[in-house]
Amino acid sequence: MPDLTSPFIFALTNPGSAMPLKQEIKDYGLGWRPSFQRRGFVTFKSSTDDEPFTLQSLEVPFIFARRLCLSLGKATNRAEALALIENAAISATSTVDGSGDTLLHELRWNERRLDRVSEDSRLPVVIGQGIGTLVELGPEEFWAGFHLHAPTLSPDPGGMGGLILPEESPSRAWLKLEEAVRFFGLHFDEGEIVVELGCAPGGVILALLQRGVSVIGVDPAKLNPVVMTSAVPELPRAPLDHPWVYHCRKPAALVAKRDLGQQVSWFMSDMNQSPEVALKECARMIKMCPAIRSALITLKLSDFAQAADRPKWFQSLREMGFRKMRLQQLAVHHHELALLATDRR
Ligand SMILES: C[S@@+](CC[C@H](N)C(=O)[O-])C[C@H]1O[C@@H](n2cnc3c(N)ncnc32)[C@H](O)[C@@H]1O
Repeated sequence: MPDLTSPFIFALTNPGSAMPLKQEIKDYGLGWRPSFQRRGFVTFKSSTDDEPFTLQSLEVPFIFARRLCLSLGKATNRAEALALIENAAISATSTVDGSGDTLLHELRWNERRLDRVSEDSRLPVVIGQGIGTLVELGPEEFWAGFHLHAPTLSPDPGGMGGLILPEESPSRAWLKLEEAVRFFGLHFDEGEIVVELGCAPGGVILALLQRGVSVIGVDPAKLNPVVMTSAVPELPRAPLDHPWVYHCRKPAALVAKRDLGQQVSWFMSDMNQSPEVALKECARMIKMCPAIRSALITLKLSDFAQAADRPKWFQSLREMGFRKMRLQQLAVHHHELALLATDRR
């Protein structure tokens, strides 16, 4: 067991998500005590002084923390903070298998929010690898943190993909799909077919087409010409040699089996509808397309308190046959969450 401990943990959240994170901590009955807070950055003290946090304490699947780190303390300059991370790496790697070199993730306070320092860091991360997180909150305020990479964690600094919306994208939803792909490590096979409810104007469609994935897009609203160039007038009965989009221009509730075919393997929804409606439509589509194995649903919340319905949402996904579920607020989300369900039998 790793013997790295600390009386403090820090969490990186979206601006405004510290409150719902504190609520989650209460709901789990962890007794962590909020300590220091800055927009998007919050520290917690362990429930009792004689039981400090360990690396295992970071394994709670919070919705509202994009990153949790053991807090190694606050330094007045970068070099001091780096030394804290180096020491933590030595004590963690002496007891953890196969961790390799420690990576460094850096974030900096930028006017009103915390941002990644480097936009283009795409260093590969392996499971079990130690990662130091350095958070620069001010000219003399450098916080140092440490965690181990795990399959369910984002590989990116602070859980932020640092993605830039392509100019041609019809909407910001391109970012939601691509951020989810990075955060969850999603994989699509070329030629796969996704059904997306609430697909207009087509940001998600563009991202999927760019990945070689075809889309049955359901939405009464118009698609942008950028994606219409890949549109087919009817559902292809045989595989084509290029990714395509079939626009099923109606509300989700009117979609029938003949609109979908039998080859759909992913369900996605980005409809402006309640979580209950999105899940109900997911269950209906699965009945019509039994080959669906995975689902990625953007849940639209009117209030973060709705996240308390998580057990109900997970239960309905289990009843649909999904075996793994994740609920996560991504860096690109405002009043939204990504609900990922995979491994459907
Ligand atoms: C946030 S936008 C979707 C953005 C889109 N995913 C993209 O990639 O550009 C929400 C969409 O949900 C659609 N919508 C709302 N209710 C719907 C329903 N019952 N069935 C299908 N689409 C619906 C709206 O017409 C709107 O285009």
